[in-house]
Amino acid sequence: MNLPIADHKWSVKTVVVPAAGMGTRFLPATKTVPKELLPVVDTPGIEVIASEAAALGASKMIIVTAPKKQGVLAHFDPYPELEALLEERGKSAQLEKVRRAPNLIEAIPVTQERPLGLGHAVSLAEAELHDDEDVVAVMLPDDLVLPQGVMETMAKARESVGGSVLCACEVPREEVSNYGVFEVEPVDDPATPGLKKVIGMVEKPAVEDAPSNYVATGRYLLDREIFDALRKITPGAGGELQLTDAIAMLIDKGHPVHIVVHDGARHDLGNPGGYIRACVDFALRDPQYGPGLRRYLTARLSQED
Ligand code: G1P
Repeated sequence: MNLPIADHKWSVKTVVVPAAGMGTRFLPATKTVPKELLPVVDTPGIEVIASEAAALGASKMIIVTAPKKQGVLAHFDPYPELEALLEERGKSAQLEKVRRAPNLIEAIPVTQERPLGLGHAVSLAEAELHDDEDVVAVMLPDDLVLPQGVMETMAKARESVGGSVLCACEVPREEVSNYGVFEVEPVDDPATPGLKKVIGMVEKPAVEDAPSNYVATGRYLLDREIFDALRKITPGAGGELQLTDAIAMLIDKGHPVHIVVHDGARHDLGNPGGYIRACVDFALRDPQYGPGLRRYLTARLSQED
């Protein structure tokens, strides 16, 4: 499918979802089940990301997976046998759930043969882009950014400042070494609260070297120029090819990079602690499970242990 760029609300056709990680922080569950298929309430994390990509108006989702993780892609295939069975039994709500993922967006597989880093994973998407695409979105499936809608805020900001726009969260100083960290300058743009200009970016610095407490949060709108930078980077933090280093290279060349500081929740689905919080947050908002869970949690928390 190749819809013209004009059919895309924010001129973003493609979302790249790097999903090749082995899920080592979530063993033993991830020994055979890819972490992107673990359910947030009843919906696999990868489908939650696909809805966010579809809400941005994207039509293609490039999923970069490792050779043994093809099940992630299978979630976007139609399942005619199950659909026929549910239809025959009149189970329309379940039928809608089975059909939802394949209808959201076109999922395109790309295989990353070896774990060479996030920068390498993103670089593999270039071959799947069409000529009319000037910008590409990257969404990390470990990061759940709530309430949804930050990608649209970033796209809106990009219309006025151009270049690349990323999402940031402010974290306590002692946590910065887990992230890409921004060096920023204020921007006077009343239309986008939380917008800042990025003048430098460093991947997983030591606390004392971190230029700020603003960290990259798994949502990026990157100018197509990023692929030139990705071709030039050399292994960085952790010996891997880092997306952060390619972004830093763009900044050094004078390419405009901005962040939108997200004012809301962010959950790390890649480890059990963050995953449980994400499930609780989603379930509390769910009309079916929310009221019962709220009563249970209130009663449970008033007990000793
Ligand atoms: C990646 C990025 C990092 C970013 C983080 C957000 O790191 O390299 O810049 O802050 O995602 O979750 P990872 O978590 O893959 O080590």
